[in-house]
Amino acid sequence: MRKNRLLALVLLSFGLLSFIVTPVSAKGKGNLLSPDRVLTIAHRGASGYVPEHTMLSYETARKMKADYIEMDLQMTKDGKLIVMHDEKLDRTTNGKGWVKDHTLAEIKKLDAGSWFNKAYPEKAKPQYADLKVPTLDEVLKRFGRHANYYIETKAPEIYPGMEEKLIASLKKYKLTGKHAKPGQVIIQSFSKDSLLKIKTLDPKMPTVQLLEAEQLSSMTDADLNEIKTYAVGIGPDYKALNAENVRTIRNHGLLLHPYTVNTEADMHRLLNWGVTGVFTNYPDVFQRVKKG
Ligand code: G3P
Ligand code: MG
Repeated sequence: MRKNRLLALVLLSFGLLSFIVTPVSAKGKGNLLSPDRVLTIAHRGASGYVPEHTMLSYETARKMKADYIEMDLQMTKDGKLIVMHDEKLDRTTNGKGWVKDHTLAEIKKLDAGSWFNKAYPEKAKPQYADLKVPTLDEVLKRFGRHANYYIETKAPEIYPGMEEKLIASLKKYKLTGKHAKPGQVIIQSFSKDSLLKIKTLDPKMPTVQLLEAEQLSSMTDADLNEIKTYAVGIGPDYKALNAENVRTIRNHGLLLHPYTVNTEADMHRLLNWGVTGVFTNYPDVFQRVKKG
């Protein structure tokens, strides 16, 4: 009798354990790429609160339970991938000039936080001063397979080899291939060529085609079908969306992640139309709006 009870206890523990360790995304409905999911994509981290593309902005996004950390890639003079939106250092650091003309060591000396304190005095915090520009590898190492990454190849035409380096880093941290969960990394770009290159390097990598407002407005069914051949979805400027084109895009079986949606009113409207996620600087706000 005692033996049976012990066996039951062991089986129950195993059951509970497997429930706890099975990633949510591995279960059908929880798959990050499921059209039933509505994703919170922390645009440049929680960049409405913390200087964009700093480790602290990503950590804050994680605390706010964002589904993805969004990162923009640039490449240094010595060929290292760093996370920064602009091709120039001027706006978000105390440096000047093109990223491609500076080594990583030079960029690491820069202050990537004080600009935020000056630009947004109401949000300023002393700890933001002298935050550093992270490399892609530093971010992947910091969060490993506990986070999901929505990575943009920025200006790939001026950075030959950017896609190869990106895929190599993802492999190094086991974020692609059989170790990664479906959708753990999504690669986005305004450049179709860059996305096609990603697909030749890593055919199973999900990609998303970014679109400017004017591009979306002139999209035909044939264009959407063409995008469907290499991408799981599109990421358009939210200002070009309306109830009708959201329906059309979704009917093509494409995920739809508009950027950059920062007000509650816009979030509610887009959710009602049927988007499958948004890029936002305020991931906590969208988390609240999603709950209804
Ligand atoms: O990544 C989606 C969206 O971020 C594209 O705009 O300029 O903020 O990278 P941008
Ligand atoms: Mg981006």
